Amino acid sequence: MTVSLGKDLVGLEHLSREQITAILDTAEPFKEVSERQIKKVPALRGKTIVNLFFEPSTRTRISFEFAEKRLSADTVNVAASGSSVSKGETLVDTARNLEAMRIDMVVIRHGSSGAAKFLGDRINSNVINAGDGKHEHPTQALLDMLTLRDRFGSIEGLKVCIVGDVLHSRVARSNIWGLTRLGAEVAVCGPATLLPRDVEQLGVTVFPRVEAAIEWADALNVLRLQLERMTSGFIPSLREYNRVFGVTAEKLARAPKDLCILHPGPMNRGVEIDSEVADGPHSVILPQVTNGVAVRMAVLYLLAGGSQDAGSSGSEMS
Ligand code: CP
Repeated sequence: MTVSLGKDLVGLEHLSREQITAILDTAEPFKEVSERQIKKVPALRGKTIVNLFFEPSTRTRISFEFAEKRLSADTVNVAASGSSVSKGETLVDTARNLEAMRIDMVVIRHGSSGAAKFLGDRINSNVINAGDGKHEHPTQALLDMLTLRDRFGSIEGLKVCIVGDVLHSRVARSNIWGLTRLGAEVAVCGPATLLPRDVEQLGVTVFPRVEAAIEWADALNVLRLQLERMTSGFIPSLREYNRVFGVTAEKLARAPKDLCILHPGPMNRGVEIDSEVADGPHSVILPQVTNGVAVRMAVLYLLAGGSQDAGSSGSEMS
C-alpha cells in the first residue's frame, strides 16, 4: 500500500501511524546508501531544494544537505544573516522570490512556531519543517524513533522518558506525538518551571524526580537546557540543575536495567548529561546523527512523490 505524506511535513501531530511507519520503513534502505563508497542514488535528480535556515544548526542543516546531495538533488543553502532577510525582507517574499527561480522544495528552520505551516500554505513548493520555535522538529523525532527501533526492534510498548527542558523543546513535542502514535508509553521529567502547563493532556506521565524516571524507563531522551529561549528564573543554577535533574552515571547505576540514552544535540556536557553517560556504552547519540541522514532522505523522497515500495525494492537505489 502506498502512503502519501501530503504536500508538506510540518509536524507529527497530524500524521497517522501508517505515515510515520512509512517514513521509518523508507529510511531503512537509504541507510545503506551512506555506507557506499559512492554515496549517491538518482532518486531526486533534477529537483532543486533550498535550505532556508533562520536559526543556527549543525546536525539538521548539514544532514539535510547530505540527504539532498545523496539523492542527487541540486541544493542551495540560505542563512538569514547573508540574505536580504537581514534587510527586512519577509519570509513569504523571500520564498516567493526563490520560487520564481523554479525551486521544488524548501527546508525551513525558523524561530517562530508555525513558520513552516505559514510558508507551506503560501507557496507551491513542498515545505519541510526543520524546527519552528517551540512547536515541532519532526525529522528529529523521526530519527529518534528510527534509532529506538534499531535498538529495541519495535516502538510499541516501549517506555521512553523525555528529561529536561520540555517547555522550550520542539523535539519533545514531536517525540510525544510520534512515540504515542506508534504505541510507546511516554513520560516527561524536569523541574516544574520547565514543563508545559497541562502536559499530561498530551498523554504523558510526569515524573518530578529523575530517579523515578530512571527506574521506570527503557530509554531516556535527554534534552538540552535551551538557555537562549529562557528569560530568567527557570532554574536556580546550572550546577543545581545538574545535581537534581542531570543524567549522571551515578544515578543510572541505580537503574534496574541498562537504559538507552538519546540526546538530540547540541549537548551541554556536565549540565543535563555527564560525559560518562553521553560517551558510554548505552548512548546512541551518534547513531541518532547517522540515522538523521537516512530519515531526511526518506522524507525528501516521499514528499517528492517517491513510493515506499520503490525505495525498498531497490529501483531508485542504484
Ligand atoms: N538536533 C538539532 O536540531 O541540532 P542542530 O540544532 O545542530 O540542527
